Amino acid sequence: MPSITIDGKQFDFEQGQTILDVASENNIEIPHYCYHPSLSIVASCRICLAEVWAPNPRNDDKLEPMPKLLPTCQAQAGDGQVVYTTSPKATANQKAVMEFFLNHHPIDCPICDQAGECTLQDYAYEYGRGKRRCDIEKITQSKKDIGDHVMLYGDRCIMCTRCVRFTSEVTGTSELYIEGRDASECIDVFPGEGINNELSGNVIDLCPVGALLDKDFMFQQRVWLLQSTPSLDPITSSGDNINIEYNNNTIYRVKPRTNMDINEYWITDEVRYGWKFVHDETRVTEALEDAETIAAGKLQGANNIALLVSPMLSCEDAWLFAQLVRGLDENAIVGIGPVPVDGEDKTFPSGFTVRSEKAPNARGVQRALGSNALSYDDWQEAAKKADTMIVTGNYPVAWDTPKVGKNKTLILIDTLANKLTDRADVFIPAATWAEKAGTFENCNNVLQLFEQAIMPIGDSKSEAQIAMDLQALVNDTLSTTFNAATVRNRMADAGIKGMLEVELPQNTNRLETDMPLMEV
Ligand code: SF4
Ligand code: FES
Repeated sequence: MPSITIDGKQFDFEQGQTILDVASENNIEIPHYCYHPSLSIVASCRICLAEVWAPNPRNDDKLEPMPKLLPTCQAQAGDGQVVYTTSPKATANQKAVMEFFLNHHPIDCPICDQAGECTLQDYAYEYGRGKRRCDIEKITQSKKDIGDHVMLYGDRCIMCTRCVRFTSEVTGTSELYIEGRDASECIDVFPGEGINNELSGNVIDLCPVGALLDKDFMFQQRVWLLQSTPSLDPITSSGDNINIEYNNNTIYRVKPRTNMDINEYWITDEVRYGWKFVHDETRVTEALEDAETIAAGKLQGANNIALLVSPMLSCEDAWLFAQLVRGLDENAIVGIGPVPVDGEDKTFPSGFTVRSEKAPNARGVQRALGSNALSYDDWQEAAKKADTMIVTGNYPVAWDTPKVGKNKTLILIDTLANKLTDRADVFIPAATWAEKAGTFENCNNVLQLFEQAIMPIGDSKSEAQIAMDLQALVNDTLSTTFNAATVRNRMADAGIKGMLEVELPQNTNRLETDMPLMEV
């Protein structure tokens, strides 16, 4: 296997890997702006240049320096090469490039949302010169609203062109281009057009500086105050990996979490902004003090129970509710709630697909309930003979609630107010996916875990916890606290496949500051 030495350490590599690939794989940091692993390589920012020595076959394979510094993002690693990223020449280049970028960059970090996760800021500390040497007047650019979600601060752009390449290579929509020449060039959209494709928010993540900002998140929080929890798309069947970012039990934003097998680096805007229902003002989070006791009493007196399990619930929620109901009525009518579908799947040139199925766990709920669980239509028909109905919702928008006859007892477990909220004999507020842990199975039958980010709001509880509480009330025992891993073990013991193979999500791509934070 060929090997290369980078900053004194020798590494094996695969033919075709770039020097930057090999360095990153081995935790050697080489600064880079224009490079992104999923975009074409343009080698335009020049910050990643390194001094490279290579064996010369015409001179007995003696090591000789390349005539110029090489862009490590573009130069392929060669067997026997020796690379210096911290030599005087490489360091002088890094300082020169940083000085060049900062010549026209505004020093507005105190009011810039990117501060704290800005690579210009980080590299200025690590690779910059520490003081400004030129006294030229800075070229200013205007702020511009360039899409439903994106604001452009032209002043801050360092012309890495990641955003332009994203719209031409990943979405194929090409809304962004470079306007002008030389130091006054800037990113722009075509007149009358905006960047409004379904993946537009990803340019905000791609921008290494604060030039492209999220209108929704703008001025809401300093990023270093946010905590981050690995989670999953709660809106569609994609299983896209995300991080939920929050402070003081309030969600402020959702970011993509890299998973090369599922969503690579991207999420749709639908997922990025789809969390708002968690804090929606129509959410009902207050319960009657004895709601669960009343519900348990009604269940104990029931003859025929019909349970509707929403595809928005986790596998654990679904299984615990089915266990409860089947324990009370072995002929219980168990079905899966409506699975909303909006048009057809849409696949972008890069292969990224926006899913038309607008529920995260229809397959997982089916898995948890078993093959005899009914479809929504069949359940509605069969439930006509039930005297007691348990209906779960947890949809992020208004949903197609079932018809409930006058004489029936309705126990509703839901999040947002809907047609059934006032009709319900007992209402128990449910926690959204952000307030609980569990497992979702995506459209490709991949089971994945998500973690609890924030505490349940108000009196709300996960459906799993509600099922456990009701079970304890029915059995007249003490309820225990829901633990997703324990329930998955019980599910596996009960013969449900796949529940032990799911792994905890890794919080892979959260930028962590290496500067100590002090409480004042
Ligand atoms: S706006 Fe951001 S991503 Fe686009 S070219 Fe400028 S710095 Fe790069
Ligand atoms: S990252 Fe290599 S030239 Fe920009």
